[in-house]
Amino acid sequence: MKKLVVGFLALWVLCMACAVSKSKIVYVFPEAMPVAVKEGYTKQCDKGQALYAITCGKCHNITVKGKEVIPDFTPEQLIGYELRVLNPKHESNIPETVVTADELGMIMTFLTYKNKTHVPVRKPVM
Ligand code: HEC
Repeated sequence: MKKLVVGFLALWVLCMACAVSKSKIVYVFPEAMPVAVKEGYTKQCDKGQALYAITCGKCHNITVKGKEVIPDFTPEQLIGYELRVLNPKHESNIPETVVTADELGMIMTFLTYKNKTHVPVRKPVM
């Protein structure tokens, strides 16, 4: 009986680990990037991911088959994001007080290196 419980527990832990690893966002860095740089970027990406979830996801995530997906922002879109400042509608929804320049940098790093979901960015309906 005890063996059965232990076996069941082990299976459950395995299942959980599997479920977590499946949903975990991995970062894809260029191969040539030095390990130390990758480590630094991973930390930036983790923070950026959390910040993105709080400040950007509600407008930009796209529901695909009932699952919330972070779209793939292209480098052009990220660079062109300065347009945020020029677009009154976007800007009024994300005042400078919500994210600092530093935080925005982390979000940009996260969006640059997160693994691709192959879901393109769509203009949110506001
Ligand atoms: C209140 C909803 C809302 C929030 C919150 C929001 N956005 Fe947006 N975003 C929009 C809309 C609407 C557009 C399209 C109009 C524009 O460019 O301003 C857009 C456009 C963009 C674009 C340009 C996409 C393109 O097609 O070039 C980027 C990049 C972007 N957002 C990133 C972000 C990031 C990063 C955050 C979090 C800091 C964020 N947005 C938060 C609504 C939002």
